[in-house]
Amino acid sequence: MNTSKKGKSSSDASDISADREMLDPYEASARYYDLWHEDFNDDVEFYLRLAERTGGPVLECMCGTGRVLIPFARKGYEIAGVDRSATMLDRCTTKVSFERPDVQHRIELHQGDVVDIKLDRKFRLAFMPFNSFLHLLTTAEQEKALLNVRDHLEDGGLFSFAVFSPRLDRPEHLVRHRGTRVTTQGEIISWFEAQVFDQGNQRTTVTYFYDISKQDKPVRRVTTEFTLRYLFFREALELLSRCGFEVIETYGNYHGGGFTATSPIMVFVARKR
Ligand SMILES: C[S@@+](CC[C@H](N)C(=O)[O-])C[C@H]1O[C@@H](n2cnc3c(N)ncnc32)[C@H](O)[C@@H]1O
Repeated sequence: MNTSKKGKSSSDASDISADREMLDPYEASARYYDLWHEDFNDDVEFYLRLAERTGGPVLECMCGTGRVLIPFARKGYEIAGVDRSATMLDRCTTKVSFERPDVQHRIELHQGDVVDIKLDRKFRLAFMPFNSFLHLLTTAEQEKALLNVRDHLEDGGLFSFAVFSPRLDRPEHLVRHRGTRVTTQGEIISWFEAQVFDQGNQRTTVTYFYDISKQDKPVRRVTTEFTLRYLFFREALELLSRCGFEVIETYGNYHGGGFTATSPIMVFVARKR
């Protein structure tokens, strides 16, 4: 496995990219990410089917803890992962270190921002799974990221991403219990979520509360907050087209179903023009 880490960020407050690097909403919650998400693999199968069409090498933008990236390397694909969170990448690195040497060898990890990272190779397939695109909060960031991904694709290469289809009728401030899990160390962790909308800026802020307890010990709460810029179907098509992609397929789930008004997600597959 090859890894590249960013140098220390500048503390110059006028340096917007440094500010972006300093904000890591995953720092507090990275520990709990896999507990809830590692069993989810519908999208892994979907992206693997795309890779069968394109071949590798493959780029995963915003790869996090390697939930998607590691299965790709196990299947024999060379894959590079980019993520700006040192905490998420550290977890990924630890998980990769338990893989067979040949699997490790096919993985490259880079700490950086998809908006401006420069890798010295090109890929046949790039993807950005699981709502990650919504972390790009302005149109300018979305466009820069898409143009940067495009620069990293070979001619005719494919790019795919999936995001939730916005449901603006969701009640605000209502705390929902997302589930309770027990870790191998016997910690009981309950995950709660509450959401507010800023419709003028097309953003939603989601607060996660993790309540951690162990039998009769006092409960400890870890709280973390994410702001996401939700996206509409037509907007995504126009964005991709503006940034040099031809949208060749769209879906409303990971099993080939078309996008409809009630689809929970929107999946886009686009070719570099
Ligand atoms: C929802 S997680 C997805 C992780 C992984 N791809 C998965 O599907 O399980 C989103 C990830 O995006 C990363 N991220 C957010 N904005 C980013 C940016 N501008 N550049 C690189 N990584 C970013 C976060 O650090 C986090 O690890």
